[in-house]
Amino acid sequence: MNGLIDVGLFDQITDDIIYEHVYDLYTNHKPRDDQHLGYINKSKTTINISCADNDLTIKQSLTSLSSNTQASSTGFVCWQTSSFLVDWILTDPKCPFYKSFAEKQDLSILEMGAGVSGVAVSLLGPRVKNYVASDQKHILKLLKENFSNNVPTNKFSSETISSDNSNKTHPKIDIIEYDWEHPMQAVP
Ligand SMILES: C[S@@+](CC[C@H](N)C(=O)[O-])C[C@H]1O[C@@H](n2cnc3c(N)ncnc32)[C@H](O)[C@@H]1O
Repeated sequence: MNGLIDVGLFDQITDDIIYEHVYDLYTNHKPRDDQHLGYINKSKTTINISCADNDLTIKQSLTSLSSNTQASSTGFVCWQTSSFLVDWILTDPKCPFYKSFAEKQDLSILEMGAGVSGVAVSLLGPRVKNYVASDQKHILKLLKENFSNNVPTNKFSSETISSDNSNKTHPKIDIIEYDWEHPMQAVP
């Protein structure tokens, strides 16, 4: 085990076999069509998903997704990627991150491009010491609303989300603006 990642669980890929490896992944390990990594449902404003034995209700903004303004973003709908990633981390002992979450280590995590769904911050946030989910400004209101609807307010402390936990104990979870194209404009 090396820090957060159990590197012993990775296959070693050397330069001379990299093309063969990618070809093998594409042909033999291609996911089924229903396991695509795209959006889950682009026609419903509220969806229910189950991830790692947890049920989440997620509001999406279809009008903002399809608006022609600068603030239109793919982050206004929930993407399957997050749900598969979190499920893998929390349920598969072969995942290199599994032990870190199962053993409640003192992890601090920064998530970038969280989107409105808040799947990762809702399910991973309560299992670590510090979790900061970030995205562009226009995403944050619905992201905070979804998080608050899915995580009881007594399960975390926060400076950015309303919480019942005033004694500043961990897990500490925050949702902040961070635009990686304009990193110097970050707002705490
Ligand atoms: C395909 S969506 C994925 C959203 C979320 N991770 C999920 O799985 O549902 C990509 C995300 O990246 C965010 N994003 C795009 N450009 C960004 C930037 N310059 N800075 C921060 N976030 C950005 C979008 O707002 C959006 O939430």
